[in-house]
Amino acid sequence: MKATVVDSDSPDHSLSWRDVPDPPCGSEEVLVDIHATAVNRADLLQRSGHYPPPPGASPYLGLEMSGTVAAVGASATGWQPGDRVCALLAGGGYAEKTAVHHQMLVPVPDHWSFTAAAAVPEVFYTAFLNLFLEAGLKSGETVLIHGGASGVGTAAIQLAREAGCRVVATAGSQEKVDRCRSLGAELVVNYRNRDFADAVLDHCDGVDVILDIVAGSYLEQNLKSLKLCGRLVVISLLGGSAGSLDLAAVLSKRLRIIGSLLRSRPLEEKIAIVRQFDDRFWQLLVDGRVAPVIHQVLPVTAAEEAHQILADNRNIGKVLLQIR
Ligand SMILES: NC(=O)c1ccc[n+]([C@@H]2O[C@H](COP(=O)([O-])OP(=O)(O)OC[C@H]3O[C@@H](n4cnc5c(N)ncnc54)[C@H](OP(=O)(O)O)[C@@H]3O)[C@@H](O)[C@H]2O)c1
Repeated sequence: MKATVVDSDSPDHSLSWRDVPDPPCGSEEVLVDIHATAVNRADLLQRSGHYPPPPGASPYLGLEMSGTVAAVGASATGWQPGDRVCALLAGGGYAEKTAVHHQMLVPVPDHWSFTAAAAVPEVFYTAFLNLFLEAGLKSGETVLIHGGASGVGTAAIQLAREAGCRVVATAGSQEKVDRCRSLGAELVVNYRNRDFADAVLDHCDGVDVILDIVAGSYLEQNLKSLKLCGRLVVISLLGGSAGSLDLAAVLSKRLRIIGSLLRSRPLEEKIAIVRQFDDRFWQLLVDGRVAPVIHQVLPVTAAEEAHQILADNRNIGKVLLQIR
């Protein structure tokens, strides 16, 4: 098969689409011919050598894919050749084939394109895991979503809206602010123009949950924005890993600070996340009440250009790579 290979000896860690060995397919796995994959920030980090794949994962980039079943392992159940599927991966989406545990696969509805299907797993599972399983977000509560126009942010706004929550968000341009509003956020703060904590506290009496991709540089404002028994879930460190933590605020407001990574979790936990998402939200995606936001679709041979879109913060929602 062909896959995107990182040349780690070149100065910019260039990418090339070239021949590599087919992936082995275990007895509980299903071999999938990949049609589309999506770009995630983690791919940029992995490409630069700062985020190696977990043990046992494919060495190639790509945390999600959609495609058709090519072959089924001896102990894998529920799938047959030709089925349209998508899945979260620990790696290997930028390739013509991948082997996936049969319980990680989800059927792609006939009315979806493969590109739409490849835009779903990583951001919807991440948003679901962190809002509902980690932070315990409940109907009627208020959530602050940083990076509201990001892939994860656009998924999180929609899931929180559907769960009956009040949604506030931050974003870095007027176009992104407008898009977050159209997805269901009642307040969107352009953090480049205004202190988001002041804006949040002018708007309401604080938030119950924060989904945070910025971390260090936002820590003080995040604690200020949380109300009694608030929960801060840190899922990325785009603003650095260090910040000033006022433990008096943590104590007096009885706050909880949670760190969460999806990729490195054991397979059993990932299967449980897929099942719980399926029970609660999958039908909303099938019905189109909730939908992935797609910024652009590029051929997989243009992966470097796709990475640059994310590196420049130009995307609203997902950047997809077409493989077939
Ligand atoms: N923990 C996990 O399991 C997990 C899973 C998936 C994703 N993530 C992480 O979650 C983050 C979002 O992922 P994504 O794929 O949705 O990303 P994305 O689509 O690339 O969007 C990221 C957005 O973050 C904003 N941003 C970048 N640097 C910033 C900074 N220093 N301060 C404030 N905002 C900044 C930019 O939007 P503005 O123009 O609005 O600033 C940018 O467009 C990524 O860092 C990713 O690695 C974590």
